[in-house]
Amino acid sequence: MKKIEVKASKTYPVFIDSNLIGDAGKFIKDTVSPLPAKVALFCDDKVEQLYAAVVEKSLKDSGFETYKFVFNNGEAQKHMGTIVQMIEFLAQNDFTRKDLAVALGGGVTGDMTGFSAAIYKRGIRFVQIPTTLLAMVDSSVGGKTGCNLSAGKNLAGAFYQPELVICDTDCLKTLDDKDFACGLAEAIKTAVIRDAKLFEVFKRRITKNDSETLKNIIARCVEIKADVVAQDEKEGGLRQILNFGHTIGHAIEKLSDYKIPHGEAVSIGMATITKAFAKTGKAAPALYEELTAVLEANNLPVKHAYSAQAVYSAALSDKKRNAADSITAVCAPELGKTELLPMKLKDFENLVSASF
Ligand code: GLY
Repeated sequence: MKKIEVKASKTYPVFIDSNLIGDAGKFIKDTVSPLPAKVALFCDDKVEQLYAAVVEKSLKDSGFETYKFVFNNGEAQKHMGTIVQMIEFLAQNDFTRKDLAVALGGGVTGDMTGFSAAIYKRGIRFVQIPTTLLAMVDSSVGGKTGCNLSAGKNLAGAFYQPELVICDTDCLKTLDDKDFACGLAEAIKTAVIRDAKLFEVFKRRITKNDSETLKNIIARCVEIKADVVAQDEKEGGLRQILNFGHTIGHAIEKLSDYKIPHGEAVSIGMATITKAFAKTGKAAPALYEELTAVLEANNLPVKHAYSAQAVYSAALSDKKRNAADSITAVCAPELGKTELLPMKLKDFENLVSASF
């Protein structure tokens, strides 16, 4: 089993291996101190069918009084209405600050459970059990929690770290091809911004059957993220590099009414911004070619059908905007390197236009 420690405002372990969720209760018992009496398991209806029973059994076998709250699958559920239901559920079941919430699922579940844990009674502890590749390589680690508002993605939220993250790679076997590819997009992002050697791995198509390769990819992505978060937990500067491809990606998600999933939108966002930076002389033109080849090899889209004006306008609601008149763009000038480029909105508009 691989174990990586995240040293942020809280230090916590990330465990990565196959066959772990059946021991979720034991991991919690060994790691979460003081021990909670009650545990609330949060998951969507899709994950409930697949994995809730085994996790619930393990929690009960470890002596926890266990409660379960299930919401409908999908990004459309990631709003304040669901958060209110989640915290009302904790209140109705008399959860105290000593108790624990567990997120079992993908990014939506992890983000919303973490946010509910952050605000219920001003903070109860929570554990992440990511079941998607995207959540394992990115969203379950680092403490970003929240939900969408009508104005844009993840506009409400809190930085709030979990007690423990359990990545059971067996869960990846039930992902559909699109969801699996979405996780690869975030892993490829991590490689582009920090690890040219990891990028090489994606030159052939990674499949769900590449079990050992996947464990190594997840471990390397978590290591890189842990290093960045340890230096800049609240995204004052360095952490913004993890948003490579995300400003345009979030705009595309929003323009598609969230029909284009996050990972695919990030893939398009990375390709679009790299094309723009290559055209304006900030990135090596070869990077754009290499990046699009790797994304396409891994079943990911690199183009969108929206106008430059629509993408620019949708990007303005992104929370990466610094102030009324500026935004920070993340540029990868070459593989493994990044530059943060604060720019006036007019320059950002020109940059978006350059990608067409
Ligand atoms: N997903 C980007 C971050 O956690 O900062």
